[in-house]
Amino acid sequence: MIFLLIFAMSAMADEPEDKSAQIFSSYCVSCHGENLEIIPLQTESTTEQRVEIVNTGIKSMPPYNWMLQDGEAERLVKYMELIK
Ligand code: HEC
Repeated sequence: MIFLLIFAMSAMADEPEDKSAQIFSSYCVSCHGENLEIIPLQTESTTEQRVEIVNTGIKSMPPYNWMLQDGEAERLVKYMELIK
C-alpha cells in the first residue's frame, strides 16, 4: 500500500507539467464540454491567440491568468488542440 503510494507519487513527480486534464475537467468542461462539443476551438485562431484568451478571457469566459502557473495556459491550449 505504502509502496504503491510512493510509486504513484514519484510517477507524478516525473511529469509535473501535466495538470492540464485536471484543470480542464475542473474549470473548463462546464462550458466547453469534455470533447469540446459545446464551445469548440475556432479554426482560425492561432495557438498564441488561444493562450491569450485563456489568460484574459473572452465574452462570457473569465480570465484564468490569476490561477495558472507559468506555461500552464499554453499547456491547456495544447491539451485542447489534441482533444478529438
Ligand atoms: C463560462 C464559460 C466558459 C468557461 C468556464 C471557459 N470558457 Fe473558454 N470560452 C468560452 C467562450 C464563450 C469562448 C468564446 C467562443 C467564441 O469566440 O465564440 C471561449 C473561448 C476559449 C478559447 C479560444 C478558442 C479559440 O480557438 O479561439 C480557449 C482556448 C478557451 N476558451 C479555453 C478555456 C479554458 C482552458 C478554460 C478553463 C481554464 C475555459 N476556456 C473555460 C467560455 C468558457
